[in-house]
Amino acid sequence: MINKNMTIEEAVKDNPNIIEKLEQVGIDYCCGGSAPLEDAISEIGFDPDSFINILNNIEKPVELDSKLEEVLKLDTDKLIDYIISVHHKKDLELIEEIDKSLRKVIKAHYINHGDNLKDIYQVFLLIKADLIPHFAAEEEIDFPKLKRGEKLDFSTLIAEHEKVGSLLERIKNLTNDFKLPEDACATYSKSYELLKELSDDLKTHIFLENNELFTR
Ligand SMILES: [Fe+2]
Ligand SMILES: [Fe+2]
Repeated sequence: MINKNMTIEEAVKDNPNIIEKLEQVGIDYCCGGSAPLEDAISEIGFDPDSFINILNNIEKPVELDSKLEEVLKLDTDKLIDYIISVHHKKDLELIEEIDKSLRKVIKAHYINHGDNLKDIYQVFLLIKADLIPHFAAEEEIDFPKLKRGEKLDFSTLIAEHEKVGSLLERIKNLTNDFKLPEDACATYSKSYELLKELSDDLKTHIFLENNELFTR
């Protein structure tokens, strides 16, 4: 049961199915997960009691269907392996696919959408340039230390997550919340789909690190 005294991350751990609703109203559950739920709801102009009521009416996942709930139960070694083999792998693959796809779209739609596509591509490249070394740092330095049981200072990794979070917000704005222009072709549509997939996956990925792995 979700209540007013919880942080956003506690509410998400109580019922991962509320993520969709939080996304819809713009509550940041990954980088801003440690904020009190009540404050986050007030900030977006809703009444905390009635909004929490809505959240409590969202059905909890059936145990086996709930990937996130299962993942949260993994021990630290397994959770690290999971993050690398599922999220790092998927995000890197998506980045390569998006890069190829966006480059085609830029060429094909430059006349009508050049300025907007240029902005999207530049922000995307900033995400790419941040994430490739970020994943390497986690895989080569921080995660092995965690596996050895060393205490770590996570402030750099968390700051990098926040930066990526704000770049994803810029992508969301530049793509008008992933709404395609009327003259979009299949590749345009594919690029937006992939960008949305990357954005969704990164949010779960960052949530797992900030609010679970780094707080153990
Ligand atoms: Fe990671
Ligand atoms: Fe990370």
